Amino acid sequence: MPNGAKIVVDHASKLFLEGSVVAFRNVDLNVRNNEVLCIVGPSGCGKTTLLRCIGGLLPPSAGQVLIDGQPVHRPRAGVAIVFQHFGLLPWKSVIDNVAFGLKIAGASRELIAQRLDHYIRLVGLAGFENHYPYQLSGGMQQRVGLARALAIDPEVLLINEPFASVDAQTREVLQEELLQLHERERKTMIFITHSIDEAIILGDRVAVMAARPGRVKEVLTVDLPRPRDPAKVRAASRYTEMRNHIWEELRPTVAM
Ligand SMILES: Nc1ncnc2c1ncn2[C@@H]1O[C@H](COP(=O)(O)OP(=O)(O)OP(=O)(O)O)[C@@H](O)[C@H]1O
Ligand SMILES: [Mg+2]
Repeated sequence: MPNGAKIVVDHASKLFLEGSVVAFRNVDLNVRNNEVLCIVGPSGCGKTTLLRCIGGLLPPSAGQVLIDGQPVHRPRAGVAIVFQHFGLLPWKSVIDNVAFGLKIAGASRELIAQRLDHYIRLVGLAGFENHYPYQLSGGMQQRVGLARALAIDPEVLLINEPFASVDAQTREVLQEELLQLHERERKTMIFITHSIDEAIILGDRVAVMAARPGRVKEVLTVDLPRPRDPAKVRAASRYTEMRNHIWEELRPTVAM
């Protein structure tokens, strides 16, 4: 196992329907403590399935996933998963949805009150505390999921396209919030996105996946210093170089 790796994906494969569908094959990845690994790749290359395996929601068909050196067989405390449409309780308001995880984790009333306010504001949902999920847009629902995950102060965040259905301006604000959050709290994160731009802005490294069969084609290091200002990152020649390189890697697979 690589030294100091928080998360290790070790020769993992996931097949569905008695092997007729290969979600991904022979994936090796490691994520260091406090590192942000972004994953990009075409639709269907197995990104979400891989994240589900890392989160312990799904067993790999072969190989294994380790967190802190321990094989993952089920969801673990300290590992928060933010998926689109993942587990918001429709009968609970925004504030109760965010509080839910904290209550289960046994947080005190004071702590819950303090964190709720902070994280609901952080994701831009102040004023919507008493709304129910059906009264929110898709993007707002995703932000509730993000606030709920962040509020429990997890060591590891597994994030699946959290900004896919938010508008471009909100997306940029949330990217900056995530950057600042990472500066402050240094979580270990795996972040799946379709946006090459977002992957470079947020990631310490970017894993590029390919489809049929799903696999990791290349892992690039984003050697841009932190703290990062997205505007400055986009102006850097290294940014353009990486973006073009990743786009060339993805181009043959998106053309299908
Ligand atoms: N429960 C399942 N049963 C059968 N096949 C599945 C299941 N889940 C995923 N698959 C298949 O595994 C492959 C990878 O799916 P996955 O959702 O991981 O892709 P993805 O990279 O996240 O795609 P997208 O970018 O569109 O979200 C697809 O071919 C999909 O049809
Ligand atoms: Mg997906």
